[in-house]
Amino acid sequence: MRYTLIIFLFIFSSWADQPLINPDARFHPVSSKNGMVVSQDGFATDAAVAVLKSGGNAADAAVALAYTLAVTLPKAGNIGGGGFALYFEASTGKTYAIDFRETAPASATKDMFLDKAGEVVSSKSKFSLDACGVPGTVAGLQYLSEKFGKLKHTDMLGPAIKLAEEGFSVSAGLAYDFQKYRKMLSMSPEVMKIFYPQGKTLEQGDILKQDALAKTLRALQKEGPNSFYTGSVAKLMADYFSQNGGAINAKDLADYKVRVMPPVKGTYRGHEVLSMPPPSSGGVHIIQMLNILENWDLSQSGHNTAQTVHYLTESMKRAYADRSKFLGDPDFVDIPVSGLLSKKYSNDLARKISTLKATPSTEVLPGKPAPYESPDTTHFSIADKEGNVISLTYTINFSFGSRIIIPGLGFILNNEMDDFSAKAGVPNAYGLIGGEANSVAAGKRPLSSMTPVMVLKNKKPWLVTGSPGGSKIITANLQLVLNVIDFKMNIAEATNAPRVHHQWLPDILNVERGYPGDSINLLKGFGHNVKTSGSLGCTETIMIENGIFYGYADPRRIEGKAAGH
Ligand code: DON
Repeated sequence: MRYTLIIFLFIFSSWADQPLINPDARFHPVSSKNGMVVSQDGFATDAAVAVLKSGGNAADAAVALAYTLAVTLPKAGNIGGGGFALYFEASTGKTYAIDFRETAPASATKDMFLDKAGEVVSSKSKFSLDACGVPGTVAGLQYLSEKFGKLKHTDMLGPAIKLAEEGFSVSAGLAYDFQKYRKMLSMSPEVMKIFYPQGKTLEQGDILKQDALAKTLRALQKEGPNSFYTGSVAKLMADYFSQNGGAINAKDLADYKVRVMPPVKGTYRGHEVLSMPPPSSGGVHIIQMLNILENWDLSQSGHNTAQTVHYLTESMKRAYADRSKFLGDPDFVDIPVSGLLSKKYSNDLARKISTLKATPSTEVLPGKPAPYESPDTTHFSIADKEGNVISLTYTINFSFGSRIIIPGLGFILNNEMDDFSAKAGVPNAYGLIGGEANSVAAGKRPLSSMTPVMVLKNKKPWLVTGSPGGSKIITANLQLVLNVIDFKMNIAEATNAPRVHHQWLPDILNVERGYPGDSINLLKGFGHNVKTSGSLGCTETIMIENGIFYGYADPRRIEGKAAGH
């Protein structure tokens, strides 16, 4: 008996650190034993893996990765934008929610994007110097290094500087973007000079060098990251803004501060779920939707069946309706976070959801629909062998942000001010309606959908994810979590399954190509206004199970890469 037990324990313990390979699965994650990096770009993933290999931890790797993306994924990677990160610190078991979102300058006013007739001037909130919030990325990365990192911040700039100075081979995805955005970017001579050298649209395999950006990154390396806020880079920015009628001044830059908060927390079928608090709306609403969905046994109704998607859609409508009314910057508005997160509130909402009939959005709350644009943001997840984990989403808002580059600085400025509600009830670029809670004000941060997520098991990160996609971020992350927890998929299967999205207004249920036609017909029968759409979100996911790290980069963006250490 004793020997049987010893043999059993031996076999079990050697199983325990083997990858969970299931040959019956159609898709498989990458696995490794010492850490994992998943991002939307191969250069960036490789830079972060090299940092892990050289003794850096998840924070160091994140800093190197984020700077690299600013060079190799110019439409979304950035130093001219901002974002959010969740950081799980292994030594304390604590998770920090780090807010490095862009901030409205001190001269911003509620009506700054309205004309004399009180109508929104959309070109001003999207493509002018006034569209830029004070960028937070460099301060966020500096915070990560100083609070959690083991290596020098300035050393983490190395891979990005090399790629900017020596150039890198343009990927298929980047070549596609250069072609697609050429007309839109042609309004900015500085952007054209850098990304369309001698007027040429770079093709796959061409080399892209970025001298001005390399110089800016070198300034950050030489003077330290404060260069961006109080040093030589700050001075160039402030001078340009003042000479060209932009709102941001030297004091706005010097005053920029990272905010660190506890994450919002919830539970879903016994799992602990952590995400980003406001001014991200994603954390609150992903937990709210999970709470509503707990009212039905989704594993019984079945993955992506019309019945399950009906429950998802009705939950999404309720959450996005609440988003429009209650969410904003917590330093400026009181947000009923605990009310929105309470199980009772969600159970009450669930009781009003009919099992077989769609509630029209106008009966959930009134508003006016608007079309989507084609925007971009990017997410990455990193886990190191010490147990530290980071889930970080950052952005300049649209693809190529405001499309403004200050001459000589080489980086694109965000147009995050468009995430404010320029006028109550008028939708922003994602068709999202907002009200007073998200109106523009000096020093305020615009409401965001960016939603880094961690699901814990035994108090440690088990599932880590996040996504770009504007308003679709929240629902993409939601379905990733549901696919793993309710439908027992590995993270590769959970990523590849067709997604759906509803955001209350417009009253449209988007389904990805590949979502079954029979289910679409059934959903139409329930009263849903179903439309097949392009891809919904792009999750970069890690799972840590029995000491093995699994990673999977969402194939919805072309160059994603998961690599282990
Ligand atoms: O913060 C937000 O919600 C938006 N600015 C994010 C933009 C975005 O995700 C674009 N992505 N594809």
